[in-house]
Formats: sequence, structure tokens, C-alpha cells
Amino acid sequence: MTQFVEALKNRRSIYALGNEVSLTEEEITSLIKEVVKESPTSFNSQTQRVVVLFDGAHKKLWDITEEALKPLTPEKAFPNTQAKLQSFAAGKGTILFFEDMDIVKNLQEQFALYADNFPVWSEQASGLTQANVWTALAEHNIGANLQHYNPVIDEEVAKEWNIPANWKLRGQLVFGSIGSQAPEKEYMNDEDRFFVYK
Ligand SMILES: Cc1cc2nc3c(=O)[nH]c(=O)nc-3n(C[C@H](O)[C@H](O)[C@H](O)COP(=O)(O)O)c2cc1C
Repeated sequence: MTQFVEALKNRRSIYALGNEVSLTEEEITSLIKEVVKESPTSFNSQTQRVVVLFDGAHKKLWDITEEALKPLTPEKAFPNTQAKLQSFAAGKGTILFFEDMDIVKNLQEQFALYADNFPVWSEQASGLTQANVWTALAEHNIGANLQHYNPVIDEEVAKEWNIPANWKLRGQLVFGSIGSQAPEKEYMNDEDRFFVYK
């Protein structure tokens, strides 16, 4: 197996997170920057925008999420929601992935023939960037899980961290030390998934 495939296998959804990680905040930040910059975008449009929240800011995000979800969650279900959010807050940080929609809009105007594709490509670029960062963190034994509390938290997040109006929140990657490993993964049959011809 190549080191690359090994790294892909090593990336899992880790939900039991702690806040003692092997890298410094500077090292994590610089790793994220490098990985994001090396992740491809359509027309090299570089639509990804990233906000890294550590410690207090990270906890603030999960407080904001709890406040936003409270009026939307049935009272009986809320303790479960709270427990889940607390498990995220127990991590070291959260990476917020945005897409710059001004760039997407400009591209749509500039290349009318592909207008419908640019929002799709923006989503694809965001997804592959998230996966790359997730895999890169796993290489350093930092666990992570991917959350999507957008759009419920968008307004408060924008207010708290001065997010430009044209940045659209697409995902929240929570990370930290690995409390317990992911269970063994199940895979569908290759025959139902891959065709090879020559
Ligand atoms: C596009 C996408 C969206 C996802 N959204 C969520 C999510 O909102 N909450 C969550 O806990 N996991 C989410 N996941 C994680 C998947 O459930 C997980 O990757 C999948 O079950 C495979 O497990 P693994 O990550 O351990 O390989 C998402 C994954 C992807 C790729």
C-alpha cells in the first residue's frame, strides 16, 4: 500500500476528542494553510476561505451552536443535542470552511457558458479541500469529525468573527486528540461500484 493510501485509510470520523494535540497552534495553522493552498479549484479560482478557531474561540462556536439550536430542538431531545455539542467543544479546535461567493458570481458572469457549473465546482473544491485537511491532520494523529450546522449558525458566526458577507459557510471540521478510535469501516461490494474496461 502506498503512503498516500495509508494516509487516506488513517482519516476517519473521530467523535471522542480531547484537547491535547501533538502539534502547536502555529504548526496546525501552517499545515492548514499549506493544504488549502495546494487543493485544486476550478480555473484556479481559489474560492476556499478558512477560519481556524482554537480553545476559547472554538468553545464559543459550540456555545453559539447550542444557543441557535435550542429554539429549534424539541425539549426532550435537547439534552442529547447538548451532549453532542459538548463532545465537540472538548476538542482542541474547529476549522470553518467557507466559499467566496463573489468569486463564483464573477466567474459565472465571465464565462456564461459554464455559469451553472461554477457553484457546483465551488462545492466540489470545498469538499476536496476539507478532505485534504482532514487527512493531513490524521497524519499527525489529530482526530477530526465534519459537521454542518450551517446555515443555522451563519449569522452569529459572521458577527462573532467578522466574516465578510460574501463568504458562505460550508462545513465545520472539529479536531483534537483521539480519545477512542473509529469502529471498523464497512464497505459496499466493489462489483457494484467499479467497472473496468479495456
Ligand atoms: C460531505 C460529507 C458530509 C458529512 N456530514 C457529516 C455531518 O454533518 N455530521 C457528521 O457527524 N458526520 C458527517 N460526515 C462524516 C461521514 O458520516 C463519515 O465520513 C462516513 O460515515 C464515513 O466514516 P469515516 O469518516 O470514518 O470514514 C460527512 C461526510 C461527508 C463526506
